Amino acid sequence: MSAPAEVAVYLDHAATTPVDPAVAEAMAACLRDDGVFGNPASSGHAWGRAAAGRVERARAAVAALINAPVEGVHFTSGATESINTAILGVTRFAMARDRGGHVITGATEHSATLAACRRLEQEGAQVTYLAPDTDGRVTAEAVAAALRDDTVLVSLMHVNNETGVIQPIEAVGRHLRDHAAVFHVDAAQSAGLLPLDVAMGIDLLSLSAHKFYGPKGAGVLYVRQQPRLRLDPLFYGGEQEGGLRPGTVPVHQVVGMGEAAELVVRRQEADHAHLQALTIRLLDGLQALDGVIVNGTGPRCPHILNVSFVGVHGESLALALRGPGVSVGSACTSALATPSHVLRAMGVPDALALASFRFSPGRGTTGDDVDAVLNMAADALEQQRRRSTIWAAFRAGATIDSLYRGGTRVA
Ligand SMILES: Cc1ncc(COP(=O)(O)O)c(C=O)c1O
Repeated sequence: MSAPAEVAVYLDHAATTPVDPAVAEAMAACLRDDGVFGNPASSGHAWGRAAAGRVERARAAVAALINAPVEGVHFTSGATESINTAILGVTRFAMARDRGGHVITGATEHSATLAACRRLEQEGAQVTYLAPDTDGRVTAEAVAAALRDDTVLVSLMHVNNETGVIQPIEAVGRHLRDHAAVFHVDAAQSAGLLPLDVAMGIDLLSLSAHKFYGPKGAGVLYVRQQPRLRLDPLFYGGEQEGGLRPGTVPVHQVVGMGEAAELVVRRQEADHAHLQALTIRLLDGLQALDGVIVNGTGPRCPHILNVSFVGVHGESLALALRGPGVSVGSACTSALATPSHVLRAMGVPDALALASFRFSPGRGTTGDDVDAVLNMAADALEQQRRRSTIWAAFRAGATIDSLYRGGTRVA
């Protein structure tokens, strides 16, 4: 795998994946004047019609990825936009017609969901944030218990981007069948790795191309068509994407996403098996280092492993790993020196949350890459733990609870 000079092993595929070479080629063919560069809305000439043809082929590819009818697939700039459109659009539409204003979501959702919900609260909506079990799962029973007559929307992620924990989407979908609330699923992390089927009772679904070897800046919002689900758009100005997402469709982005979707459908089983093998190797190696706690013990998607290290200072360990070139972490929170909201909601003590790392291998990761990271981690841990009083106490038999709960000590 080629990489910037200072990055030897890229283990951050949950943050973003490299574009597959076939995807880059398909995109390049939609940019130049010897390619399909037309505006797909220009149906009056051949350039426009050729572009529209490519866009519709991409729509069919994405529809196949989530087993949805093509008419339900709407192109957006990414999962953040899709999530905002779904959450704000459905709730605002309902509130404007006095059809309720209560939303249910999880406390461990991506910030796009949480921030959209907070915005809705400012507009008068009520939001229930469900706490997960300590294994990171929000149960279908908890969702059912939180449902009210005025609940208009339940929004849950399929796979958590920090822990890889899989949420029981199918069971939640079943519970919602007899309720008027619509069900939105943020599938940004599961697309291409877990089976996705909107027939699981899903009314709205968000995807992001750059998580499955497609380009950044491209995403999808699936909206149920039968019966047609109505929601307010975020933007106004044109009829593209059924008026839900007006603006000229970025053909190269959409074509790249379609190509990536076709590839990922074909590769799903092989990718899953490859990542499973790598994650098992990584976990075995890490556990041999002792004092390693897995965050999220529920069923997990195999491209994410989140662990906390006992007796280390998170920032120092991050420096020790990133210095020689290991890209780990959570892109969504690493710029902030606060514990992750996901780990906090799962009851992980702050000091352990701050000493947590997300390892996220991908298609191009090899067993040698994993072994190299394990060696670096072993060296760094050994050095740091030599000076740690917590580590000494842990080795002497103190429990994690006694060492970390209610205290502020870090290493
Ligand atoms: C679970 C989840 N939802 C939403 C997003 C946002 O996706 P995008 O980068 O396409 O806006 C991400 C990206 O990190 C994610 O992991």
